[in-house]
Amino acid sequence: MQNQLQVFTGSANRRLAERICEHIGIRLGDVIVGRFADGEVRVKINQDVRGSDIFVVQPTCPPVNDHLMELGLMVDAFRRASAERITAVVPYFGYARQDRKDEGRVPISAKFIANMIVAAGADRVLALDLHAAQLQGFFDIPVDHLYAKPVLVKYFHRLQIPDLTVVAPDVGSSKLARGYAKRLDADLAIVDKRRMTDTETEVMSVIGTVKSRNVLLIDDMISTAGSITQAAEAVKDLGAKDVYLAATHAILCDPAMERLDKAPVQQVVVTDTIPVPQDKRRPYMKILSTARLLGEAILRIHHAQSVSKLFEPEIDE
Ligand code: R5P
Repeated sequence: MQNQLQVFTGSANRRLAERICEHIGIRLGDVIVGRFADGEVRVKINQDVRGSDIFVVQPTCPPVNDHLMELGLMVDAFRRASAERITAVVPYFGYARQDRKDEGRVPISAKFIANMIVAAGADRVLALDLHAAQLQGFFDIPVDHLYAKPVLVKYFHRLQIPDLTVVAPDVGSSKLARGYAKRLDADLAIVDKRRMTDTETEVMSVIGTVKSRNVLLIDDMISTAGSITQAAEAVKDLGAKDVYLAATHAILCDPAMERLDKAPVQQVVVTDTIPVPQDKRRPYMKILSTARLLGEAILRIHHAQSVSKLFEPEIDE
């Protein structure tokens, strides 16, 4: 595309947007995303965007409704300012777990949010590790879906952990875990988890062998950390040696830090799709950047090149 590439961001993860721009070699666009006195979101673009190829970086992480509204209003502002094309870059897509009617009289919130982003005027979406790949189908516009796997796999390759078993903390994560096991040349095991409430889970059993193995528990997100810390305790009880936790999205809402601080684990590895505030950073935590991956994807979309090329082993943070 010949139109000028410009990247903007709201308040959700400014550091990630800056790092993406550093990788691309451009300055982050100038936009005011603030609040009016009554709390309503105020957006004002401070530079010309007419005819430009616009990328709006905004994970819809907590406070999710605020960040969604910022994203929607930014996209609306760019459309009204005659941008040629607008891509919503959503490294973490909130509401994703509400993607079906699993009981009567509930909304399909993920579909509603997808409709909102499209209605605001986005032409494309660039997402990273959606909770379920099928969520792409909720958007009636093109979606490029990236995986953080190359970033995380490269890190764990460097650690050279012997006798490794990759463990899925629930059946839903087993496909993800299988992918990591394959790339790390490790065994696979699956925890059979039952969710009691949105913050409480219970481990039923572990399918596969973890005794005397080093374990990497992998999930798409750590929210209250119930799933992953209970799985860590279960594999430890079954005789696992060192346990590592990894997840793309570090939501870390209460009581996640309390649970992680007590968990029998060597290290917790996450990415920067969601900013981890200073008070939640720990010596046992490693935060890997997805900026290069996202920056490369943005460049490829801008130049109408293949995005799937990014999922080759050499791409890392
Ligand atoms: C479940 O389907 C997800 O992949 C995560 O395992 C889960 O949502 C994490 O939530 P929490 O950290 O609160 O257990």
